[in-house]
Amino acid sequence: MGTVTLRRARADDIPRLEAWDTQPHVIAATGDDDVFDWADELSRDAEWTTTLIAEEDGRPVGVVQVIDPREEETHYWGDVEPNLRAIDIWIGEPDDLGRGLGTQMMTLVLDECFDDPTVVAVLIDPLESNVRARAFYRRMGFAEVGPQVFGTDHCMVHRLDRATWLARRAAEEPG
Ligand SMILES: CC(C)(COP(=O)(O)OP(=O)(O)OC[C@H]1O[C@@H](n2cnc3c(N)ncnc32)[C@H](O)[C@@H]1OP(=O)(O)O)[C@@H](O)C(=O)NCCC(=O)NCCS
Repeated sequence: MGTVTLRRARADDIPRLEAWDTQPHVIAATGDDDVFDWADELSRDAEWTTTLIAEEDGRPVGVVQVIDPREEETHYWGDVEPNLRAIDIWIGEPDDLGRGLGTQMMTLVLDECFDDPTVVAVLIDPLESNVRARAFYRRMGFAEVGPQVFGTDHCMVHRLDRATWLARRAAEEPG
């Protein structure tokens, strides 16, 4: 596996993002409510939403959206506490699933989220049925908060607190 880096999504990524959206594993993970209009999504990029493209040695492989769930304009998350972040993540091509890219992507984005000293925790809302993603998040240190229905999607909310992440990263430090 190569090295993963994150960069801001650009307008010239839109055809690639649209193509990834047609992949069965992406459709299965995103549920009924989330049909992305990428031009609109990228134009919304502001202080409370960021769309990042993950590249493996310069090749785009996946996407991560980071929002401030309290400030985000559609208020998808409802009335949540301040100083949180919420993440959506997926790999674009089926051949790239299960190669460790997602672990690298999550590590980068969680480091970036907690780099902001005001951020207390990160939320994520896989579909309840997405047992593999749920296992992946638990391995990354997330804890299950409980089920929540968003629109028609039955999700399992997960949360990773700052202290949990920092302890995990400290334990990984060599020496
Ligand atoms: C979840 C996801 C980002 C993880 O990235 P990844 O590069 O595949 O994961 P890694 O290789 O670092 O880690 C492997 C783990 O990812 C998870 N995973 C692998 N393939 C998966 C898939 N098709 N769907 C969901 N999770 C998957 C599993 O937990 C796997 O562990 P396992 O092999 O013991 O079952 C990626 O699999 C993905 O995009 N899945 C489809 C979309 C999705 O479910 N996104 C999450 C929406 S909340």
